[in-house]
Amino acid sequence: MPERPFIIVAIDGGAASGKSSTSRTLSERLHLLHVDTGSFYRAITAELLRRGLSPADLPAVQAAVATLPFGTRVEGRSARMEIGGRVAGDEIRSREVNEHVSHFAAIPAVRTALLAYQRGQAAVARQHQFKGLVMEGRDIGSVIFPDADFRFFLQADPVERARRRASEGQHDSISERDRLDSSRKTSPLTIPAGATAIDSTHLTLEQVVDRLVAQIEGRASRV
Ligand code: CDP
Ligand code: CDP
Repeated sequence: MPERPFIIVAIDGGAASGKSSTSRTLSERLHLLHVDTGSFYRAITAELLRRGLSPADLPAVQAAVATLPFGTRVEGRSARMEIGGRVAGDEIRSREVNEHVSHFAAIPAVRTALLAYQRGQAAVARQHQFKGLVMEGRDIGSVIFPDADFRFFLQADPVERARRRASEGQHDSISERDRLDSSRKTSPLTIPAGATAIDSTHLTLEQVVDRLVAQIEGRASRV
């Protein structure tokens, strides 16, 4: 059988829809680099908060993000963002970051600062001999990789998503983040035309991943 070409898989969806667990498991099944862009927005948010900035300080935020020294460290199958050579820790899941991240993420300069960095993860995946990458976020299939080989959009009932996040012991207002993420002007959360939507409300993680793999391997075997 011929070697499969390098593939790019985009996974978007609202908060706690299952993006990270699905992407991580898919990366293991297909030997892909896993890129969690939400963790990038969270790391930037933690850094800006550490510098005492608020999303209302637009000029200061714009100046800060334009000069943040980003790097990438590959740990296992995951791409971790470095800022000034340091990978952020658990603080990116703190209540303070949960409350601020969507406000910083709505600022066009913050999104612009991340655009080339996110696209550059394909080169990182190739350098590390992965068979492709799976990138998750809100605008991956619509803005970052609109030509991705496979684009999925995960959905789940809001009550079920809140239950999942709470069972992780997190204080997180997911409906408020979804509202902010869907209504912002730049790169809003939306189902990209042509993406495959999967509702995981009544599916286990394995069932969701099986569907993705079936679609990827089904199509890959026909090319
Ligand atoms: O894991 P969870 O779904 O709770 O959120 P996340 O993926 O870690 O993303 C945190 C926040 O970053 C989102 O609520 C968005 O405001 C922002 N984000 C974004 O704007 N664009 C992306 N591609 C990824 C995340
Ligand atoms: O990355 P995102 O915020 O979209 O979701 P996640 O962190 O992957 O998943 C949130 C929680 O839902 C985790 O505790 C997962 O184990 C759980 N989950 C689930 O119960 N069923 C699924 N089909 C997917 C995720």
